[in-house]
Amino acid sequence: MITISEALALARKWRPKRFEDLLGQEHVVRALTHALSSGRLHHAYLFTGTRGVGKTTLARILAKCLNCEHGVTATPCGECQACQDIDAGRFSDLLEVDAATNTRVEEMRELLDNAHYLPVSGRFKVYIIDEVHMLSRNAFNAMLKTLEEPPAHMKFILATTDPQKVPVTVLSRCLQFGLKPMTVDQLVSRLQFILDAEQVNSEAQALRLIAKAARGSVRDSLSVLDQAIAFGGGAVNAQGVAELLGVVSDEAVIALAQALADQDGPRLVQGVEGLMNAGQSADMVLQDFAALMQKLAFIQLAAPANPEREYAAELLQLTQAMSIAHVQLCYQIALGGRRDLTQAPDELAGLTMSFLRMLAFISEQDKSSSRAPKNSSPHSGTPVKSLQPANPTKVSTPVVSVPQIVERSQASHPMPNASDDWVKLVDTLPSGGAPVELARHCVWQGRTGQKLHLSLPQANKVLLAMTDRLLALLVSLLGPLQLDIQLDHDSADRVAEQSVAARDQAASKARLSEAELAIENDPVVQALLAAGGRIVPGSIKPVKQH
Ligand SMILES: Nc1ncnc2c1ncn2[C@@H]1O[C@H](COP(=O)(O)OP(=O)(O)O)[C@@H](O)[C@H]1O
Ligand SMILES: [Mg+2]
Ligand SMILES: [Zn+2]
Repeated sequence: MITISEALALARKWRPKRFEDLLGQEHVVRALTHALSSGRLHHAYLFTGTRGVGKTTLARILAKCLNCEHGVTATPCGECQACQDIDAGRFSDLLEVDAATNTRVEEMRELLDNAHYLPVSGRFKVYIIDEVHMLSRNAFNAMLKTLEEPPAHMKFILATTDPQKVPVTVLSRCLQFGLKPMTVDQLVSRLQFILDAEQVNSEAQALRLIAKAARGSVRDSLSVLDQAIAFGGGAVNAQGVAELLGVVSDEAVIALAQALADQDGPRLVQGVEGLMNAGQSADMVLQDFAALMQKLAFIQLAAPANPEREYAAELLQLTQAMSIAHVQLCYQIALGGRRDLTQAPDELAGLTMSFLRMLAFISEQDKSSSRAPKNSSPHSGTPVKSLQPANPTKVSTPVVSVPQIVERSQASHPMPNASDDWVKLVDTLPSGGAPVELARHCVWQGRTGQKLHLSLPQANKVLLAMTDRLLALLVSLLGPLQLDIQLDHDSADRVAEQSVAARDQAASKARLSEAELAIENDPVVQALLAAGGRIVPGSIKPVKQH
């Protein structure tokens, strides 16, 4: 085990001593530098921001700026007695108070009484009051008096994580600076810098995990880094960090999805076992996997992949290797898998079963399509699958445009006369467009002359907006006709049952439960799985894809 003091070692060792060594906070540094070099000094400063972003660090540097023996400066020498004493925490004119532990008014009074004595060796008496919001009301009042008429030789530097709790009367007398939390990239660069200096080897992925876990705090990132070094026996690797933090590495989750996309059952099972052996919780794995599927679905349906984001290449490749429907299904299975974990024989079985189920439901369409050769760059443009990644216009505009259809209609469709004809006709429509969705939800009511009468369940009312486009589509297939679509208010259920959409939904439900039962109940399959076997894709009837 490592002790707390050891865990804080790097943070302490690498506390910046000069403005230029600070990570971020450029806006604060610029303003302070300007004030210091133009001699326009305030008597009270307030630094706000979450923990570990540099409040105390800035306060100490500022104390040096004010007291460096070479004069007030934005670049204290770091060599003179004052600078050295401040860095070492033994400068007699610098008082650091932690308000979290000294909240009582007597202490504040005593402190402030001393303020009126001239500095012993420095130019200014500097009071750093940390977590100032913790002071009692009386202590605030005592401080306020000094803040109102501060002696010329006195500087206040207040810091707080919670400025809301600082009385306005105090706020209004301070020059306030909001410190910003660090981005993941900033933290990674800092960690890398420190590791290089410390000559410790690390994996890039490990540093990202640490940086993410630190949630913007440099101090937190450094204390995790300390632990990771101890944990990894002198090196920082992703596996160790993931274990330490109890998180699943993005890489591991992506690897599972890749095994799935490659329909590589053994690799998939191996990956799952690896994660469990590393001490991950099955629930966490499924949660992270669902999050990955959500990202993929987003890229496939809503927004093109952003090449800047992490793992852009891997994500893009997965969106091409997995069909839209399969991504959706995997998301559902992951969520369901989490729910079912408590019922599973054990965590490993529950987790393995969820992933095997995802594998089992890869559709025929997915399987027959060609795949990218191993190691091919997703940017090389190799088309991996029939379904293309994100192209928002593709999704939101109808697939069918009238001129296209006119060509196709050369095959000529007979005018429908009965419900069966209508269903057949709808089945031949190219899937995917909104007008076709309307058709799929419509129920045949009859025909008078060239007029088709259809009804639409109230629940699908929004699709009515597609009527004109559906009409154009039908005209192109059947010749001149009219459409009469009535909303069905009363018997929505009955009507819905007769639409193509309802039929397909019922059928896919049946197929799904059939297939699920097959995997879950077949003793042979279970025995094979238990022995480390894999389900041969295709041995289970997949859900029909639209
Ligand atoms: N902006 C920063 N740049 C570089 N290191 C920082 C920064 N902020 C915090 N640190 C690191 O975290 C430690 C704690 O920072 P500190 O200034 O005490 O944070 P707080 O904002 O909680 O007062 C420092 O010793 C330093 O190692
Ligand atoms: Mg602090
Ligand atoms: Zn100096």
